[in-house]
Amino acid sequence: MKILVTGGTGYIGSHTVVELQAQGHEVIIVDNLSNSEREVVDQIALISGIRPAFEELDLCDQSKTDALFAKYPNIDGIIHFAAYKAVGESVANPMIYYRNNLQSLMNTIDGMRKYNISNLVFSSSCTVYGQPEVLPVREDSPVQAAFSPYGNTKQISEEILKDSVNAYAGLNVIALRYFNPIGAHPTALIGELPLGVPNNLIPFITQTAIGLRQQLSVFGSDYNTPDGTAIRDYIHVVDLAKAHVIAVDRMTKGKGKSNFEVFNLGTGNGFSVLEVINSFEKVTGEKLNYKLVDRRPGDVEQVWADTTFANEELGWKAALTLDEMTLSAWKWELRLQEKRNSK
Ligand code: UFG
Repeated sequence: MKILVTGGTGYIGSHTVVELQAQGHEVIIVDNLSNSEREVVDQIALISGIRPAFEELDLCDQSKTDALFAKYPNIDGIIHFAAYKAVGESVANPMIYYRNNLQSLMNTIDGMRKYNISNLVFSSSCTVYGQPEVLPVREDSPVQAAFSPYGNTKQISEEILKDSVNAYAGLNVIALRYFNPIGAHPTALIGELPLGVPNNLIPFITQTAIGLRQQLSVFGSDYNTPDGTAIRDYIHVVDLAKAHVIAVDRMTKGKGKSNFEVFNLGTGNGFSVLEVINSFEKVTGEKLNYKLVDRRPGDVEQVWADTTFANEELGWKAALTLDEMTLSAWKWELRLQEKRNSK
């Protein structure tokens, strides 16, 4: 199958391209390189032995997006990752987030209609659940008012897609709600490339251990959890990537139960911040400098996924452990450090 991957040089996108290629799919990447590097295409080719087609393009540009679809006829499916994703930045600059994340999606949908492309997998987030009342959280849990403009773009995008499948016959969508993707490819050839000071836990941990940051702040130690720190469902990015391949196959083979489906992608296990730190220290032998500080505004206390629906319907289950996640993240940081040192 011919699959267009938007945001395909990004963190989750690049891992998904590798898994698509491993299953024999032909991949076209489109990315504006706003938060990734062209070199990722070379790294993908190193891992898979196949160089994906690459188009540097901003999907917010309607005429260029139209030209992209005209250039690649007969696309069987689209996996749409391209979006901004920094929560804090979205609070500071909401218009940038709404314009970028929604316009690129709408232009993509317009292209799908014009060029008769039926299947779209959308990158959504567990952020749509807020702090759920019942844990683990199922797909039919209520969507709650978003904490940030970033989260709101995910909710609005799901609404846009729902309205689109109702209006446009033949359109199928699977929204994948990610929990906390971490880790990197076992080859350490691709991984997350955080620009500036990381907001997320794992890059902050690895950058502290490597000496780029002085100390990790653990946000909140008085939560109502066994050790007082917040709990998340961390999922290895390679497990996450594999679920995308299954989702796109499900649509192209017509196996979906409806034209708009939603799946939680997590492991089903929650780990606290201190448990993540312990895992990191155990598998790497590094001692991490951290301190307990106040809660971070906007953080939920605890959330982890009920993965029953994804396990049963997709026949997919996350396989990699927390230790494998933290170790692969460390190997990736070591590779980044080699690159920094060689500059
Ligand atoms: N944390 C720290 N110190 C840090 C960074 C994070 O203690 O320096 C803690 C957070 O407070 C949280 C946990 O580590 O308890 C995980 O934080 P991340 O920032 O890695 O992830 P979040 O769960 O906050 O964010 C994720 C996604 C977002 C999404 C959000 C919704 O990265 O895209 O879930 O809750 F919006």
